[in-house]
Parts: sequence; C-alpha cells; structure tokens
Amino acid sequence: MAVLKIAVLISGRGSNLKALIEATQSPNFPAKIVCVMSNIADAKGLDHALVAGIPTFVINHRDYKKREDFERVLDEKLTSYGVQLICLAGFMRLLTSWFVDRWRDRLINIHPSLLPSFPGLDTHQKAIDYGVKFTGCTVHFVRSEMDHGPIIVQAAVPVAMEDTEATLAARVLLAEHRLYPQAVQFIAENRVNVFEEKAFVADTKAPRDMLINPEYKTTLVKNEPTT
Ligand code: GRF
Repeated sequence: MAVLKIAVLISGRGSNLKALIEATQSPNFPAKIVCVMSNIADAKGLDHALVAGIPTFVINHRDYKKREDFERVLDEKLTSYGVQLICLAGFMRLLTSWFVDRWRDRLINIHPSLLPSFPGLDTHQKAIDYGVKFTGCTVHFVRSEMDHGPIIVQAAVPVAMEDTEATLAARVLLAEHRLYPQAVQFIAENRVNVFEEKAFVADTKAPRDMLINPEYKTTLVKNEPTT
C-alpha cells in the first residue's frame, strides 16, 4: 500500500510532531512525514525534524502583508512536496477560508480539550474552573471557524481535584501523543469518511485506558455520614 504523504505545521515546542515522527518511523505505518513547516524560525520543534532527517522550511508570516499571500507560498511549497494531508500541531496562525477550503478534509488539527467544550486558549484552566470531571483532546478536520470541524477522534482524560493547569496539561499531552498518530493512521488507512459534516471512523479500536474515573485523595473528599 502506498504511504500517505503528510506535512506537519508547527510554531513551537513540537512534542506532537515528535510523537508523529516516532509513529511514522515504525514499520508498516501507513503515512510518512515529507516535510515540516514552521512560521517561527527558531521554533524548538524543528530540531525533532532535523534529528529525524525530515526536510523543514520556515515561512515567516511577518514577511507578508496579507494572510492569503503567506498561505499561497505555503500552499505552493506543500504541493511541491506532494503533500496529501496537513497536520497542524501547535501551529499558531489562523488560516483563511481560501486555504481551508483548498485543503478541505485534508487538513487536521489537534486541540487539548473535548471539543466543542473549551475552544481557544487557556483550555486547561477553563476546564478546571468549570469543574468538569473529564477533559481530553480532539483531532478534527479544520474549518474556517477556530477549533471547529468534523471530529475524527477524541481521548477522555480525568481531571483530578488537585490538578493545576500544568499537571492537567501534562496529562492531556500524553493522550495527545497517542491520539494524533492514531488519527493519522485511520486517515491513511482510508477509514475516515465525512458525511453531513460529521466524521466517521470505520472499525476503530479505541484505547480504553483513558476512561478512568478521577482518583480523589481521601484528604480532599470527606465522607459525611448520610443519616
Ligand atoms: C498542544 O497542546 C496542541 O493540542 C495544541 O498546541 C499544543 C502544541 O504542543 N494545539 P506541541 O508543540 O505539540 O508540544
């Protein structure tokens, strides 16, 4: 089977890129990363690609007056690599509907919450402030509205009572690193269909160990007598 050619777009740390690199390096993985792009020249994540011998390029959005001019250069470059699927992984630029429509259903993103809850920034603090018992992460096809589009896969992650933004972010990130490669694999295996703006995955074997109830510390939860 021909492997799916993917591009990963980043702006920073690149831990999801690293997870995707590791997954694509394993034998029989149905996709390979043909290039990594960053809009930030010194994005740390670029090092992961360099170590793995994956071509990288930087397009600084500040060099372009209009968003679309930046995107046209990006589009040309991705096309020159024969990219079939774009994975946004901490890519901090909003894309115009021109670009999003051009790559419709071939452009995916990972967001660290169970969408449609908590889109945008500060997701973990919002989840803690709301008091949800589960948060998680979502891989979805990109539409013009931010953090919106057909949901491909989600992982649920418990929120513990003592969680801080940092501890919760770290727990969700572990789930992200498992979930993103899985979404790419499903797409590469042609198992994902979009119908009436919903994505369906055929024969998914979902990881079950993410759905664990939060473990409360007994010191934090007092058992009051009920009578
Ligand atoms: C991740 O939490 C991802 O869900 C969000 O941005 C963060 C990027 O982290 N879109 P990294 O650069 O992949 O480490």
